Amino acid sequence: MTIIEDVGEMGAWRGAAPTVLVPTMGALHAGHEELVRHGRTLAGPRGSLVVSVFVNPTQFGPGEDFGDYPRAFADDCALCVRAGADLVFHPPAGAMYHPDASVTVAETSLTRTLCGPSRPGHFDGVCTVVAKLFNLVRPDVAVFGKKDYQQLAVLRRMARDLNFPVEIAGAETVREPDGLAMSSRNRYLDDEERRQAAAIRKALLAAAYDTRPDAAARLALTRQCIEREAPRGEIDYLQIVDRETMAAIDEVDRPALAAAAVRFGRARLIDNIEIDPCVSSNR
Ligand code: PAF
Repeated sequence: MTIIEDVGEMGAWRGAAPTVLVPTMGALHAGHEELVRHGRTLAGPRGSLVVSVFVNPTQFGPGEDFGDYPRAFADDCALCVRAGADLVFHPPAGAMYHPDASVTVAETSLTRTLCGPSRPGHFDGVCTVVAKLFNLVRPDVAVFGKKDYQQLAVLRRMARDLNFPVEIAGAETVREPDGLAMSSRNRYLDDEERRQAAAIRKALLAAAYDTRPDAAARLALTRQCIEREAPRGEIDYLQIVDRETMAAIDEVDRPALAAAAVRFGRARLIDNIEIDPCVSSNR
């Protein structure tokens, strides 16, 4: 496996088709391993699989965990080798942005809900760095996890609207045995927070199995579940949105997404579940 740190060298590199990119911020866990393995399958034996490892400063807001974000590059490389990556792109912290960089990419519709209002500027940072990675690596396919469902939708929209010749592939969320979605931020949790954090998945399942079309009724159930089972959790948002537009909906009458963000101490955890209109309730 090759490691490239130099941005110019990455830009000059040409992979074998299909080239598949898995963008990450490192601190890789079993969820990322799944993304990389999925990438390997998409690249096939002859294609090139690139994993980028870069903690992108522009997607963190003031007071967020950019400084503390876990960095574990040696372990990341071991996981990448194990999961079949051909190349890891690991630019140094200051190398991705010119000090006077003044061009960014902003998505202005799908980012109006969920993490958009809670993390102002976050998706501009994500879109900008991913656009840069697309230009440097020139992948045919890029893989993103469904845990960050809104991010996946926003990046699909970016690729469509800016004509990036790349297919955006979504990969399923990998979970701990109690249902907690794997995340680099889970390591911030103490034992009690970790135990309570399993309530997020349980609450979202309650929203999904509820057959009432009324989104507010389903969300009330979800909130009760978190309040009962996770008193240390502070709900940032609980919403049911249209899966295409990410706009909040009142009735679950189309493909929808129930999504949650809950803070436990300094960990802000997100998760979601796809829900489809219940056929029997439509009759
Ligand atoms: O999902 C992430 O880890 C990041 O948002 C991404 C896509 C690697 C951009 O920095």
